[in-house]
Amino acid sequence: MPIFLDTGDLKEIQKYMKMGIIRGVTTNPTILLKDGVTGGMKGIKRRSIEIAEMVNPYPLFVEVTTNDQAQMIEEAIEIARWAENIVVKITIHGPNGELGNLEAAHLLETKGKARVNVTAIMSAQQGLLAAMTGATYISLFGGRINDMGYNVCEEIRKLRKVLDDFNLKAKIIIGSTREILNVIEWLEAGAHIVTVVPNLLERMIVHPYSKETVQMFLNDAKKLEEKTRKAQ
Ligand code: E4P
Repeated sequence: MPIFLDTGDLKEIQKYMKMGIIRGVTTNPTILLKDGVTGGMKGIKRRSIEIAEMVNPYPLFVEVTTNDQAQMIEEAIEIARWAENIVVKITIHGPNGELGNLEAAHLLETKGKARVNVTAIMSAQQGLLAAMTGATYISLFGGRINDMGYNVCEEIRKLRKVLDDFNLKAKIIIGSTREILNVIEWLEAGAHIVTVVPNLLERMIVHPYSKETVQMFLNDAKKLEEKTRKAQ
């Protein structure tokens, strides 16, 4: 299941689901805000249920909106109840390095309350610890890691090796995808899944030389038709 769509836009999700080329949808509060969700938690719930139905049986990822540990757990349980294919996203720690998040992720996964995706991971070290919680998915932010001057491919290789060596079940999702070439290179480095924004997915499909080649086929098909007509 290598390609997920990183969006809250229903039309884009429907478009790529119909093509059969995506295997899940990732969101976060920033994406939902950009894609027009309003009305706080009620709005998030409405949009999430619509997306979950659209992508079923593939997963939809929905992030909690608080960093208070008790509220985070409560919200995660509530979000997981919206649809059976929803995975709950919890950041690796709080905005000031608060450490309650991994405990919440561990509790939710091991008590069977929710499937968890630990997110906003910037290094293999963080990824290993996130996987140790028992989380089903861990998300590295590839573009942001490269922006900081590190090589995300190296982080992916190191992380995938320790996950495999120690039989940790977490699947690596790489987000924050900026360039078309990232997708194949990150999968090749060992990521299980790459999540991409709709615009990037379209740029992956459409190639100028393919356009030119297709135009050649169509022109020649027309000529063939004309030739046949003249011969009759
Ligand atoms: C993961 O949830 C996403 O890819 C996230 O939006 C980060 O992407 P950005 O660095 O392009 O904002």
